[in-house]
Amino acid sequence: MAHPVLADRIRSAFAEDVRLGLTRSPQKELPSKYLYDDVGSALFDVITVLPEYGVTRAEERVLMAHAGDLARLVPDATLVAELGSGSGRKTRRILDALSTRRRITYCPIEISPAALAQCERALGDLERVDIAGYQNEYLDGLKRIVEERRRTGDRLLVMFLGSTIGNFRRLAAAHFLRDIRHLMRPGDALILGADLLKPEAVLVNAYDDPAGVTAAFNLNLLGRLNRELGANFDLREFEHEARFDPVAGAIEMHLRSRRDQTVTIEAAGCAIEFAEGETIWTEASHKYTRDDIVQMGDVAGFSLTAQWTDTEWPFAESLFIAR
Ligand code: AVJ
Repeated sequence: MAHPVLADRIRSAFAEDVRLGLTRSPQKELPSKYLYDDVGSALFDVITVLPEYGVTRAEERVLMAHAGDLARLVPDATLVAELGSGSGRKTRRILDALSTRRRITYCPIEISPAALAQCERALGDLERVDIAGYQNEYLDGLKRIVEERRRTGDRLLVMFLGSTIGNFRRLAAAHFLRDIRHLMRPGDALILGADLLKPEAVLVNAYDDPAGVTAAFNLNLLGRLNRELGANFDLREFEHEARFDPVAGAIEMHLRSRRDQTVTIEAAGCAIEFAEGETIWTEASHKYTRDDIVQMGDVAGFSLTAQWTDTEWPFAESLFIAR
């Protein structure tokens, strides 16, 4: 991190989120956005190639098949903002299709500097694409982009891929889309990737893979608390768990304490007691029907223009236009 004061401020926000989450009763929790430090991001990249986790490859197939259709449906998009830059593979296909018609500006928004740098490396060779990365939270980044980059006549395309929307509770997801909509103009476009509901056994296998990569991804969150906040979690004394909540329509990740234990977190100024079997809830991945997605967009002020799905692993890519 370049700026030491900013780095301190970010670290204390992290410490405060951790303190609030771990003192919550009856269910301790940690925000899922903290899963993605450099180790977590690398582990997630491995998850995307696991046979049990079909989400990322399904979206890649949909975009491979339909990027041309997408470009035809938003032919005048000149400014592209992406929430979360990912590794750049899926994005390349879309930018390629859009930039055959005209020069475009691509602005990835990403909190992790490493991920932003990787994205700029991966897409920097595209000829008619100017890249300007924003190291911000999603809404702050999008606000800056429209303020700093948008010229009269620019058509904005916002991309929110990978089913990251699923990490929000249903109501919060609708509010988040509405907040995005408020930064857009009528006629602007939103492409939203969302994973579809599938049988519980398939989901549990995807989020608790037999090779243990997802377990490592989840446990790394405790490792991160040790490294960055001076906590003393013994990772061997916790185990990964994935469970499906049929009411929420979400697969949840938890970290289960293997015994009664107390953990101290220096930077958060707290000592946390765990009973044997007690869990920390670290992530919810909501799963949708195609109609859920259309409705969520509609409530937020968008009309559906097209929806493409993968049949091998049910996943939907939806193209919305702001009303
Ligand atoms: C990157 C948030 C879409 O929720 O499926 C993968 C993260 N968690 N395995 C998801 C994740 C466990 C993933 N997202």
